[in-house]
Amino acid sequence: MNYTLQINNLLDTASDCICLPIFSDQSLCKSGLQIDEACSKIITKAITRYDISGDTGKAFTLSIDNQNFSRILLVGFGDPKEINTETLKKSISALNSQINDTNIKNLCIAFNDVSPELKPEQVIRETITSVENGRYCFDQFKTKKTPESQLSEISFLCDASQETASDATISLANAQVKGMNIAKDLGNLPGNVCTPSYLAEQAQTLADNSNNFSVKILEEADLEALNMGAFLSVSKGSIEPGKLIILEYKGGKTDDAPHILVGKGITFDSGGISLKPGASMDEMKYDMCGAASVMGTMTAIAALQPKLNIVSIIASAENMPAGNASKPGDIVTSASGITIEIMNTDAEGRLVLCDALTYAEQYKPASVVDIATLTGACIVALGHCTSAVMGNNDSVVNELLDAGKQASDKAWQLPIWDDYQEQIDSPFADIQNIGGKGAGSITAACFLSRFTKAYPWAHLDIAGTAWVSGGKNKGATGRPVPLLLQYLLNKEAS
Ligand code: BES
Ligand code: MN
Ligand code: ZN
Repeated sequence: MNYTLQINNLLDTASDCICLPIFSDQSLCKSGLQIDEACSKIITKAITRYDISGDTGKAFTLSIDNQNFSRILLVGFGDPKEINTETLKKSISALNSQINDTNIKNLCIAFNDVSPELKPEQVIRETITSVENGRYCFDQFKTKKTPESQLSEISFLCDASQETASDATISLANAQVKGMNIAKDLGNLPGNVCTPSYLAEQAQTLADNSNNFSVKILEEADLEALNMGAFLSVSKGSIEPGKLIILEYKGGKTDDAPHILVGKGITFDSGGISLKPGASMDEMKYDMCGAASVMGTMTAIAALQPKLNIVSIIASAENMPAGNASKPGDIVTSASGITIEIMNTDAEGRLVLCDALTYAEQYKPASVVDIATLTGACIVALGHCTSAVMGNNDSVVNELLDAGKQASDKAWQLPIWDDYQEQIDSPFADIQNIGGKGAGSITAACFLSRFTKAYPWAHLDIAGTAWVSGGKNKGATGRPVPLLLQYLLNKEAS
């Protein structure tokens, strides 16, 4: 889809459809009044005749004769005093549902004077994200493909003074969408296709096709040489070889300390010998969504080329039960030297991540953020709207929370106070890989915190937000690409 700016007078707009805001008292804003005037009050007449609602979440299409445009789509924005990012989301989603399955080819959105509370950047970003979420379709394994929508251009009415900022927002949103779609595709691919080797190939392709990227793939033999006993205790139970995939982006000065993203890339989590129950086990193909969000973010970075150094590390393996798989009670030594008693082979994410986090030390990073579908407990705590953040550094944590708000990809902090640390004490090794009853997301983060003492670090648990479970909307969400991208771009700006 092509997104453009429309700087001209709205009445000159040649378009299949013009989208105008309407408020809950059925009033219009400036551009609406202007069009109404030019079209012999057709809008005000229709509002009365059809009692068109301006409530948030409502939308109504009028057909228009003898103008440069053939339809007007009135989009409810509710009470002007109560407009905010949340109500904007609802309004845009109502707009979105009206343009599906129509023969509209191009659309002009005239929301530039909806409310002083809404910056044009917010409207543009939210619209592009929402429209592209609606258009996303994963049908590569269907013999009958979904027909493509006819809509191919959306223009945003914009004051000349806003042109530069709005142009930058379109580029940002396009890059974000590209990244989210990569994250969705990787997540939705079945485990028999998206293996650790497949992820490594995708990283290689990204690096080959982008400026300032390089890639390193560490094989199991390399990981043995690095004493990554924790990582290998997971990968050894599968015939799919585990990989540590390192993508480096150099957009900053040579000696700028990099920001590092570490992604959990378990391409299928059966639980291992601590086998998971059968119901919904298919969804454990999504256990690589942390890695997918890292790949998606790096794809967006490749498009935007910010002046930053970024390293991403994907810890990828398949967690399977096998004769040579790890057993509960096994003790392994991580690359850091910390010994781990594996009390439950289904707590495998932290085992692959801890060695990747130790590997990150050599970069002397400015910050490290790991992203993982780490605990079912996170869904109990925060449900499916909010990712969890925990870390050893308040500014990294707060910057992630702020980025989430800015990008409307929200996260919330859980505490990892020292009081929780004793839950991972082991009678036989330095630590164990589960924390017992209660606070499962926190004790998982406590485990990771033992390996991140050398740098500012935060952990994002995306178990509830990375995909929509079951039902007709089942599928990867592309989260938290918006949050991560915003976090990095804020680093560039600061
Ligand atoms: N990948 C799962 C976490 C998960 C489960 C994410 C369901 C999303 C939906 C992780 O590897 C896991 O199995 N965690 C265990 C930890 C437990 C054994 C301490 C869990 O959450 O049950
Ligand atoms: Mn597991
Ligand atoms: Zn897992």
